[in-house]
Amino acid sequence: MASTDRTVLITGASSGFGLLTTITLARRGWHVLATMRDLNRRSHLEDAARGAGVLDQIEIHPLDVTHNDQIAAIASLVEQRQTSLHALINNAGFAAPGFADDVTDAELREQLDTNFFGAAAVTRAFLPQLRRQGFGRIVMVSSISGRLGFPGVGSYAAAKFALEGWTESLRYEMKPLGIQVALVEPGAFETDIWTRNAKLSARLLDPASPNAARVERWRARIEGQRKKADPQVVADTIARILDNPHPRLRYVVGADARMGLLLRKLLPAGVFERIILKNTGLDG
Ligand SMILES: NC(=O)c1ccc[n+]([C@@H]2O[C@H](COP(=O)([O-])OP(=O)(O)OC[C@H]3O[C@@H](n4cnc5c(N)ncnc54)[C@H](OP(=O)(O)O)[C@@H]3O)[C@@H](O)[C@H]2O)c1
Repeated sequence: MASTDRTVLITGASSGFGLLTTITLARRGWHVLATMRDLNRRSHLEDAARGAGVLDQIEIHPLDVTHNDQIAAIASLVEQRQTSLHALINNAGFAAPGFADDVTDAELREQLDTNFFGAAAVTRAFLPQLRRQGFGRIVMVSSISGRLGFPGVGSYAAAKFALEGWTESLRYEMKPLGIQVALVEPGAFETDIWTRNAKLSARLLDPASPNAARVERWRARIEGQRKKADPQVVADTIARILDNPHPRLRYVVGADARMGLLLRKLLPAGVFERIILKNTGLDG
């Protein structure tokens, strides 16, 4: 279904889900305010938009979600236009792998700063506008790691669990105001998140870490499972959420994510935990 004259703002549009969602929504007629923290990386999006014939429907703006001045600037730019903002997609994020006793306080806080506090701050900056309008959509790109805590990614899971709880409360607060709020919970998809954008805990690869031997096995297992799905599926899901008059709270995306949740529901807890330990090389 094509849409016209609808504006959406998305964070983290320079790669992965953010880039694909920008193109997908532009193709469906949306006007997209595509934000990214580093404008030097804009050519990836511009090339894709040109290829799709939707360059004129996309505006690129700077936004690092950990910079309050940039959040205030983009919110004020949107407000001054006196046009409606139909949807906000909080997508920006990165992964910070590390075992709990190797991760520093600063590393843990940095992960939450972007993946939780950043998304919350961007959302809060646009709530006055959405409230005035009396309509709008907010989509949070969470993760299966917002439902299940896997070993080696506790900081990431903490940020996504926080995002899930905050968003669930937000949904109740916004619904009476005409604003719909939804979470997208992808499994593993082929983007830059575990490669270019992975910020390993400094001690993760330190041979002196008490976890060194376990990390070796864990990495070998995780690398072996690196056959990931096409991220376009996530972009299509977000586009469907924006077109659904009554979106649900949660959208689980990907066979691995659905299977994980199903197994946890059906299996005795001890059996489920043994499967996770075995699959992540921590059963030895
Ligand atoms: N791929 C998966 O398997 C998967 C699964 C579940 C959930 N997710 C979630 O999906 C979202 C998008 O990730 P992706 O998989 O598409 O990975 P990606 O290709 O690495 O894209 C991440 C995007 O977030 C941006 N970003 C990172 N920190 C930022 C900050 N402080 N301010 C603004 N932008 C920032 C990156 O910008 P730069 O280009 O400048 O680095 C990039 O545009 C994340 O929230 C991630 O947690 C991904």
